[in-house]
Amino acid sequence: MKKVAIGADHAGYELKEFLKKKLGEDGYQIIDYGTDSDRSVDYPDFASSVAKSVSSGEVDAGILICGTGIGMTIAANKLNGVRAALCLYPTMAQLARRHNDANVLALGGRLMGKDLALETVRAFLETDFEGGRHEVRVEKVRQLEGRG
Ligand code: RB5
Repeated sequence: MKKVAIGADHAGYELKEFLKKKLGEDGYQIIDYGTDSDRSVDYPDFASSVAKSVSSGEVDAGILICGTGIGMTIAANKLNGVRAALCLYPTMAQLARRHNDANVLALGGRLMGKDLALETVRAFLETDFEGGRHEVRVEKVRQLEGRG
């Protein structure tokens, strides 16, 4: 995963800026969809930009940050092809990749320190999907898109 879209609301802005810098230093190509300050904004606006970028294949993965990560997760998962996972520590991120083939990582900016967040992001971006029995399950998830 080399090309990564990132987005945050006001509660995730500071962490987004930190992660953007660190991931850039790691060699990732980052596309920043905002927000650009800590002024209050609505998380679905940023979730939709990042989720669209992932579902269209423009980027390999997305990162979304709000206060808890919950709103971003709910909103991003409305788009076809998006599997957004809220992960608050690295093991969750590894399993979200290995078992669920998650393509968007959501973080809680008000719940995580910067170092833990960076470790969680790196775990997500560096872990591959295992396939095998999980492929069948992910395909069943895919089949739920557009239903009901
Ligand atoms: C903003 O106050 C907060 O509600 C938002 O960042 C997020 O946590 C929503 O899920």
